[in-house]
Amino acid sequence: MRLALASDHAGFCQKADIKAYAESLGHTVADLGPDDDGRVDYPDYADKVARQVADGEADMGILICGTGLGMAMTADKVAGVRAIAIQTPQFAELSREHNDANVVCLSGRFVDLDTNKEIVRTFLETPFGGGRHAGRVAKMMSEDNGTYGIPEKE
Ligand code: RB5
Repeated sequence: MRLALASDHAGFCQKADIKAYAESLGHTVADLGPDDDGRVDYPDYADKVARQVADGEADMGILICGTGLGMAMTADKVAGVRAIAIQTPQFAELSREHNDANVVCLSGRFVDLDTNKEIVRTFLETPFGGGRHAGRVAKMMSEDNGTYGIPEKE
């Protein structure tokens, strides 16, 4: 898979290890920055990764900030992106199976590296369940263009 990866200063400490780990699983990883742990604004990096996923340049995205929360909130505002902050491998699995998440947002301050690696592996290896979940995800995505709840014209 082609992955887009970025962090802010609070997630920078895990970024290189997460990149190496994803590559060891056979993925191609584009590191969209930052290049050092100087203070930055997480939305700038969430936007870079989310746009690559939305534009189809990347199949999935990985973001790391202090909590994963600000990254997820920002990335999820980009149309076509389903970004989610994840703290456990089980939630990573469910976010793929039920929600077809395409950007995983990790906590560099509150979740250790080994757990985040397991989250990444689970996220990348779990397929979307489809079936009953597909209609729900379609409803979710209708929020992107403001058509939720508006009946289709005949
Ligand atoms: C940076 O201090 C912190 O706010 C950021 O990394 C992230 O946790 C935001 O959600």
